[in-house]
Amino acid sequence: MKVAYTQMRPVFLEPEVNYSKAEELIRIAADKGAKLVVLPELFDTGYNFRSKEEVEGVAGEIPDGPTTQFLMELSRELGVFIVAGTAEKDEKGRLYNSAVITGPIGRGYIGKYRKIHLFYREKLFFEPGDLGFRVFNIGIAKVGVMICFDWFFPESARTLALKGADIIAHPSNLVMPYAPRAMPIRALENRVYTITANRVGEEFGLRFIGKSTIASPDADVLAMGSEDEEVEVVEVDLSVARNKRLNEMNDVFKDRRPEHYSL
Ligand code: ACM
Repeated sequence: MKVAYTQMRPVFLEPEVNYSKAEELIRIAADKGAKLVVLPELFDTGYNFRSKEEVEGVAGEIPDGPTTQFLMELSRELGVFIVAGTAEKDEKGRLYNSAVITGPIGRGYIGKYRKIHLFYREKLFFEPGDLGFRVFNIGIAKVGVMICFDWFFPESARTLALKGADIIAHPSNLVMPYAPRAMPIRALENRVYTITANRVGEEFGLRFIGKSTIASPDADVLAMGSEDEEVEVVEVDLSVARNKRLNEMNDVFKDRRPEHYSL
């Protein structure tokens, strides 16, 4: 199975412009055979909001809002599954830093995740996620979703892996330099593939690092982005992610001793 990240430079508060750019990159990934394409966090709106009103002006409902509808249509047309970060407004007007997963099944909507660990000024605008960590069985794979700063908490990837994820899709807007080094270890300790799709560019003094990363269950870096817009497609072998054995005596899940972990 082929998977991809698209690394892009969203234009702040310009969803239509960002749909066009995302579509161009997703089409390239689909042409190269990718079946799962991961986009950055908040690919539709940009990231560095200055007020809650700015977020309210661009956030949409999931799945009825324009971003999810755009992704559903593209998924159906191209036959690809897409995981993408988007600003969500629920029916009561509450805001979430969310990700949606769409695919060529039925109308195209599969589900959503709301970011659990909010980073820095996100806490001024968004509610913390209330849906838990979720794994979506899309037939060809089980895909867990987490967003950017969730990576700093190893419990995020661990929970997704324990819930059965083969692949962790990780839409991101990274500003600290560490995740490209850390994600291969998240992949290794959980024996899963990870796809971190980061953005590039700058917004009001925040610089995004690019370096999107696809890592294997053996901590190999299968793809690493530059600091510009790009698409990378790699082949993954899910049987590797489904085998949690390290040798004939160690299984990284069965050997866990959770009775010693709780505080
Ligand atoms: C981040 O969570 N966007 C750093």
